[in-house]
This record gives sequence, C-alpha cells and structure tokens, in this order.
Amino acid sequence: MPFAALETPQLLLDVTKLDANTARMKAHVERLGSRLRPHLKTTKSVDLARHVLGDLSHPITVSTLKEADYFAGHGARDILYAVGIAENKMDHVVALRRKDVDLTIILDNLASAAMVVARAAAAETMVPVLIEIDSDGHRSGVEPQSGALVAIGRLLEDGAYTLLRGVMTHAGASYDCRTTACIEKLAAQERSLTLGSAEMLREAGMACPVVSIGSTPTALFSKNLDGVTEVRAGVFMSRDLVMAGLGVCAPEDIALSVLATVIGHQPAKGWVITDAGWMAMSRDRGTSGHGIDQGYGLVADEYGRLLGDVVVNGANQEHGILTAHEGKPLDISGFPIGMRLRILPNHACATAAQYGEYLVVDSGSEILTRWERINGW
Ligand SMILES: Cc1ncc(COP(=O)(O)O)c(C=O)c1O
Repeated sequence: MPFAALETPQLLLDVTKLDANTARMKAHVERLGSRLRPHLKTTKSVDLARHVLGDLSHPITVSTLKEADYFAGHGARDILYAVGIAENKMDHVVALRRKDVDLTIILDNLASAAMVVARAAAAETMVPVLIEIDSDGHRSGVEPQSGALVAIGRLLEDGAYTLLRGVMTHAGASYDCRTTACIEKLAAQERSLTLGSAEMLREAGMACPVVSIGSTPTALFSKNLDGVTEVRAGVFMSRDLVMAGLGVCAPEDIALSVLATVIGHQPAKGWVITDAGWMAMSRDRGTSGHGIDQGYGLVADEYGRLLGDVVVNGANQEHGILTAHEGKPLDISGFPIGMRLRILPNHACATAAQYGEYLVVDSGSEILTRWERINGW
C-alpha cells in the first residue's frame, strides 16, 4: 500500500534500520563474550520479536505480565519480568510457571522476598528470583555488596520453593549522561557492582549463576563484559532522539517515526500545523535537557530524509505545531497543506505505546507489512 493512501497519524517502522541497529548491538555484546536477553518493552510485538530473534525460544525480558502472557502464548519460554514484584501479581506468576514458562521475577527487599517465599510455598510452585542491585542511584535496587543483599539471598535460598538465580541491575542513570566518557564510566560501574554483588553471594555459599545488566547506552559503550551472563537492552532496536542526543546513534539511525499530514498554517508566526499532537507522539520531552532540544519530535520528509531545522515545538492532543528549533519561524511555503511528514520520536517506548500496530517500511514509499503490538497491563 502506498503512503498516500494512508489515514494519518500512523506509526512507521523502517525495517532496514531496525536490522542494522539490532545487528550492531548483537555483534558488540557477543564480541565481548556475553549474550543478549533483549527487553521487549519497547517493541511489544511478537511479529517484530520473531523478525529480530528468529523464534521465541530466545531468552527475553518483559516489563509487564501481559507481555509475558503474550510472548509465552507465541512460544517464549525463558522470560525475565524485570520490574520489582508485587504480591497482587503472584497468582499470575504462579499461573505462568505452571504453564511451563520459565518466568523469573525480581525484587530488592526483605519484605518482598519473604512474601515470595510464602506465596511460592503456598502454591507449591518453584519461583526463580534475581535480586535487583542499585548500581547507580537511578531507581530501585538494594545496595550492592551489602549485608542487606546477603540477607535477601539467604531468605530466598532457605525458601523451599524459591530459587535464587542471581543478580540484575539497570544503569538508567546513563540517560542523564552528557558525555561518552560518562556513559563508559557507568557501563564499567554497572558491571563491577553487579559482578561484585554476585561474588559476595557466592562467597556466602549461594550459587548465583546469573549476572544480568543492561541499558542501551551502557551496553553499546561497554568495553568489558567478563562475568556478565546476559545484557538486557531494549530501545537499541528502534533507537530514538534521546539516544541520538546521548551520542548513542545518529538521528538517521532511528527506525521509528510517526507519519503525519500538514493540516494548516499560521503565516504570521511561521507555524505549520499537523495532525500529530501529543497523542500521536506522547508527551515525552526527553531531549529538553539535551544540548539540542528536539521539542516533541524531529521532522523528516515522508521518505524519512531529515529536514534539518524543523521540530514539533508545541503539541495539543491532536495538533502538532512545527517550527524551527527554539520556536523560530519556518518558511511555511515549504510545507503545503496535505504534505506528508515523518516525525522522529524523543522516546520510542512512549510513542509506540500510542499505537496498536507498526506499519513496516524500508526506504521506499510503500507499506511492506503490518506488525501487531500490544499495550497496557
Ligand atoms: C530493568 C530494565 N532493564 C533493561 C532496560 C533496557 O534499557 P534500554 O531501553 O535503555 O535498552 C530497561 C529499560 O527501562 C529496564 O527498566
């Protein structure tokens, strides 16, 4: 189907860029002797997962139990649910485990560990657990190499139906870096603190086979993955403007975009109005603290060729307001009514979450196929 026949907005995925981005990450991680457990929270699509992974026997990471159900229903068996567990999800976890899905959960505190020990025993169902480590002060996780870590490990080891599988962390602070040196430092820290935590548990007599780390910036800038058994990265497949702003990729590498149409002008202000507002792009303003603030998205032509100094400077629910960077006026004669544009997103996960499918494209102007995706919980 040609673009011209499409109602807008639509979510486009450039499969050539997707393949290149994926190959680059896989080669890097494998060259350093580890393996990928891709995080499918960005893509949430079984079609895309099959395209990238071959089949779903590959280990995967998910961010919701709905994703776990969805991918398990299409054959995935080795799934890490990488958000700290809550008791109200334990029936769901047990149900998946009983369907022969090797689902692993994570936690970072004694209360959750005691809850999981009790709930797994009551269900007489083995539940494997990774202990989450706080390797950078970004979010959750127990203090690395601490007494609390060992106490949690001991509680899980002593549970009749809990299996301490290892440790994990996510170096989310890498998103706050402004230099490559900062990302490299966090990558080394992510590895050393997680590995050190695994070694502490091992010295205390616990097996701890899994050392799981990952974020796209730290994964791509890592120089040493010795001892790291798996790398969980997610946004690397599509990339986005936040990644470009961090120097992880170029805007030209971004595989995801929103197809929009010019619906109006404000000539006195030099504004171009489109039908892609924040509902189409998400409200994510992840580049606002970067050297270049890309507003709600960076604008390309309908074939994905960047126009340079054109961004979505303002967004209402269904209206996007295009200007040059910093709100400077555009020459609106270059944007006739009805013109199709592609807008690159700040945050791929947030933009994709607004849509139920990907329209798969390459460098041409035809839709090659449609890949379904899921949303919600
Ligand atoms: C626990 C966890 N692991 C891995 C990732 C993947 O990070 P990225 O999307 O930067 O690749 C995330 C992303 O939020 C995460 O929360």
